[in-house]
Amino acid sequence: MDNGEQILQLVSDLPVMPEVYTELLGLLGGVDVDIDIVVKLTERDVGLTSVILRAANSPFYGGIVPVRTVRQAIVRVGLAAYRSFVLSAWMNCLVRACGALERELWEHSIKVAETTRLFAKSVGGFHVDEAYVWGIFHDVGWVVLWLKMPEKATEILSSASQLVGENVLFSRDVEDLEREICGCTHSELGRLAILKWELEADLANIVGAHHAPVDARSALVSLAEHILSGSRDHEGRDMELLRLEDIDVAALRLACAAYVE
Ligand SMILES: [Fe+2]
Ligand SMILES: [Fe+2]
Repeated sequence: MDNGEQILQLVSDLPVMPEVYTELLGLLGGVDVDIDIVVKLTERDVGLTSVILRAANSPFYGGIVPVRTVRQAIVRVGLAAYRSFVLSAWMNCLVRACGALERELWEHSIKVAETTRLFAKSVGGFHVDEAYVWGIFHDVGWVVLWLKMPEKATEILSSASQLVGENVLFSRDVEDLEREICGCTHSELGRLAILKWELEADLANIVGAHHAPVDARSALVSLAEHILSGSRDHEGRDMELLRLEDIDVAALRLACAAYVE
């Protein structure tokens, strides 16, 4: 078996997306969406319920009055954005299988997603809900590494932490180590996993390129991650929260434009 076949083997029997998520993604991708059915399906899933309530009460969507029900939360964020949170809940299911990596990987994915969405909003020309999904899934390859090669994933994390401190998930410099230890990178595995789950090919390409951007969208994710890594101290603690008014939009536009074909 050559290296390419071995990599494909790794994504051949990944967890399957729960039926309620596939049903919701199908409904939300159509026209004349029946919100009653969307609410009922959502309430059947605890993870989904907690993701949408958290999102609707986040500063990005936050109103004066906190929302307490699934219906209020979906109405506040809108159906298009809700689709991105169904995908986010699926990522959350996957991350929960990652044992010791679970908390760090989920917090990292949320931070990169929120920052990518913030950048998308300030630069303009991007779909902000899609940008959130790019950030949420960018490191899904770590889930594959953890599920399929837990010892090697642990070895990569501990070797990488000696090189880059506590900021392993933020670092662009661990992929050589991954190739050396596993014969593949989390970016490649993430791209293949997304294709395996039959999610959008665009999402797969962005995930595959998040450490070596090939277009403005993968550049946006990479920049979000890079800026977040700079806002952490040597032990990986957040120095400060990024705010819209802190962003140098002109510099961000220039950085993205460099990747437009
Ligand atoms: Fe990554
Ligand atoms: Fe990352």
